[in-house]
Amino acid sequence: MASIDTLTLPADPTSAADLAAVGLEYSRVDADGDGFRPFQRAVARGFLGGESTDDEAAHSRKTLRTRRLTGVFDRSGSEPEVPVGTIDSWASTLTTSPGRTADLWSISAVTVAPTHRRRGIARAMIGGELRTAAAAGFALAGLTVTEATIYGRWGFSPAAWASDVVVDTRRARWTGPTAPGRLDFIARDGIVERLRAIHERVRVLRPGSVPGWDGRWRGVAGVAPGDKEAEKVRAVVYRDVDDVERGILVYTLAETDEYAAHDLSVRAIFADGDEAYAALWRFAIEHDLVGKVKAWLQAPVPPVQWMVADRRAVTATLTDHHWLRVLDVAGALSSRSYAAPLELVLRVDDPLGFADGSWSVRIDDAGEAEVTSASADARVDVDLTVGALGSLLLGGVRATELASAGLVSGGASAIAVVDAAFAPAAIPLLDIWY
Ligand SMILES: CC(C)(COP(=O)(O)OP(=O)(O)OC[C@H]1O[C@@H](n2cnc3c(N)ncnc32)[C@H](O)[C@@H]1OP(=O)(O)O)[C@@H](O)C(=O)NCCC(=O)NCCS
Repeated sequence: MASIDTLTLPADPTSAADLAAVGLEYSRVDADGDGFRPFQRAVARGFLGGESTDDEAAHSRKTLRTRRLTGVFDRSGSEPEVPVGTIDSWASTLTTSPGRTADLWSISAVTVAPTHRRRGIARAMIGGELRTAAAAGFALAGLTVTEATIYGRWGFSPAAWASDVVVDTRRARWTGPTAPGRLDFIARDGIVERLRAIHERVRVLRPGSVPGWDGRWRGVAGVAPGDKEAEKVRAVVYRDVDDVERGILVYTLAETDEYAAHDLSVRAIFADGDEAYAALWRFAIEHDLVGKVKAWLQAPVPPVQWMVADRRAVTATLTDHHWLRVLDVAGALSSRSYAAPLELVLRVDDPLGFADGSWSVRIDDAGEAEVTSASADARVDVDLTVGALGSLLLGGVRATELASAGLVSGGASAIAVVDAAFAPAAIPLLDIWY
């Protein structure tokens, strides 16, 4: 199914009709057509960016060619070709438990022109994506967000969290493992291929992850046009004793008030295994003339905290990162494996209807789920919102915690059974933005 060509799916007729009723046009944009540059201008404006150069446009066209671009147009405006609303989407793959995946309808580039805000344009565009995704058989939609207040109303909820990490290298002192392999610098033109290869191995084991793409890796590597820091990008790879590349660190250094205390900013640190993780973090923390190491999108409780003498030298600021929206309860729940058996009836409240209903969920001793629609008179064990279901799916939050917030309800023993079954084999993490 991930091979489905989402570009051939028609624009959602409900959204088209709703927008037409207020004088707006809802239509698909061809990345190779004349509409591409205006679409891109609208996205840049929506995210408060500047105008892109021809090189930058050509670079982003390569990525967006594979995506479903949709615009909302006000043809009575002074720039009728520039959309007043933009959205893009594509078929991606979400790791739901180590080695298991679900097809994911990924959404990005959601912008509405400030001149047209709060007239329901985002509502029409997001509704259109969800209806199109559900009709095409996707069990889940996902996105990363600029603000935490926007997407809950459409049933999205955080399912994987990430930490921004700062390490004060003068306090930290490495006490973690000594990796037996070796580190080597690599040339900038070798970074993209390594990022791709190592991330592919890492992401299939990590719930909450999705594949990256060439444009993303080129940006990280400093070889995308318009990168003002490009000349500062450095990278090292870790090779194990069998000479297999197991990890990569891409970073830049910036001078601070004190020359001996530069900031080392991590653009990517991908480690296929504990050895590579320890080797790359040690390299960063022990780098001469560095006072702080700064890294984004790290595990909620980053393992590096356990590898230094003073754990308070490591500050980890947690934020919601990967938001999921369940469209098909059976498809979503059966895409992962579970830690313990369970048999109960879930009642999902979904005002938009996609996931609404009572669901009989049986998880066997092997951790495989079977989910069927429950009869209307079935006794419900656990009630929850569709958002709570999305947050529980990967096991990044416990049902007990959501119950204390009133988002899940049921008997204490039923909720404890959900906690045991949904406990993740690895803490969910999404290590890129999309
Ligand atoms: C966020 C954005 C797309 C909203 O577009 P919009 O067309 O004004 O939104 P709508 O008119 O369809 O609003 C739908 C609902 O979302 C709410 N909403 C919209 N933007 C919101 C925001 N930033 N914070 C909180 N609520 C918001 C509206 O109040 C409305 O609420 P209701 O359901 O109670 O009526 C637009 O403000 C924007 O482009 N922002 C900058 C780019 C950005 O942050 N994009 C999101 C990327 S993840």
